[in-house]
Amino acid sequence: MSLAAACISTGHLPPAQRVQALVADAHARFKAIDDGKVADYIPALAAVPRDLFGVCVVETSGTTHEAGDTGHAFSIQSVSKPFVFALVCEALGEEVARARLGVNSTGLPFDSLLAIDRAEDGSTNPMVNAGAIAAASLAPGASADAKWRFIQDGLSRFAGRELELDRAVYASEAASNQHNQRIARLLQEHGRIYFDPLEATDVYTRQCALKVSTRDLALMSATLANGGVNPLTRERIIDGVCCQHVLAVMVTAGLYENSGEWLYDTGLPGKSGVSGGIVAVAPGKAGLATFAPPLDAAGNSVRGQLAARFLAERLGLNLFASEPSTP
Ligand code: DON
Repeated sequence: MSLAAACISTGHLPPAQRVQALVADAHARFKAIDDGKVADYIPALAAVPRDLFGVCVVETSGTTHEAGDTGHAFSIQSVSKPFVFALVCEALGEEVARARLGVNSTGLPFDSLLAIDRAEDGSTNPMVNAGAIAAASLAPGASADAKWRFIQDGLSRFAGRELELDRAVYASEAASNQHNQRIARLLQEHGRIYFDPLEATDVYTRQCALKVSTRDLALMSATLANGGVNPLTRERIIDGVCCQHVLAVMVTAGLYENSGEWLYDTGLPGKSGVSGGIVAVAPGKAGLATFAPPLDAAGNSVRGQLAARFLAERLGLNLFASEPSTP
């Protein structure tokens, strides 16, 4: 066994044909579920058809399995957070990123102000809005435009193609994001934002309005499952250690106050967004992504969670699963 192999803890996916059949099965099983509410606090999101449903798995070999509306473009929203944290972690180093942003769970909703006040030092977690706005403020670059270019370029490299801004979604959220501006100002009171608070909020708002498909998200997630190397372009986006830290913050707060329930069900690092996307990362095996707009009360896609749980079980992805050794 090589030294590198001795430092990882992963198994194997079932054969490709079986993975494809299970992805199709997950789509067929849950497509008729109509529970949940499409987000409308960002007005442009309310117009998205509620029956859209895509499921995609990209193996670390690059082999892709998909079912449903996997090519449909939607705004990435909070699913951008782990990837921006990854880029910031890579640029600043993991200890600086931890010290500036915090890595503990908040146990609170994604847009909580209380989470900032409750931590003595005002730190939160880069998976919730406060920590994500602070992460955007740390993007390299002296101007908001430079920070935005760094983020757009980095997320595009994760996706293996140029990601574009959804201008309608950006304009809609920029006109209604007073709450995020309040979060940024509160971070400033605690010395926890590292650029002009309103400009940092604007960069974060643009990041959330990048257009992706379920297929893009699965490849981005597969890059995190593949030690930071994009399985299709073969480009190294972040180093392997940084990648581990990204997965750790996803586990602690990726599904906000429901992160424990999610982990109990899937045993995987995950991240959700209010437009209906979810990614889950099976280290060494695959990236999984789902898209279905109706959300539960915490802002997590209902059908997406069901499909992810089903696939985590059937594909054997749960990180906590083990078998007794043979004597
Ligand atoms: O900042 C916001 O409120 C949105 N741009 C993103 C929030 C989000 O996706 C939370 N996810 N479930």
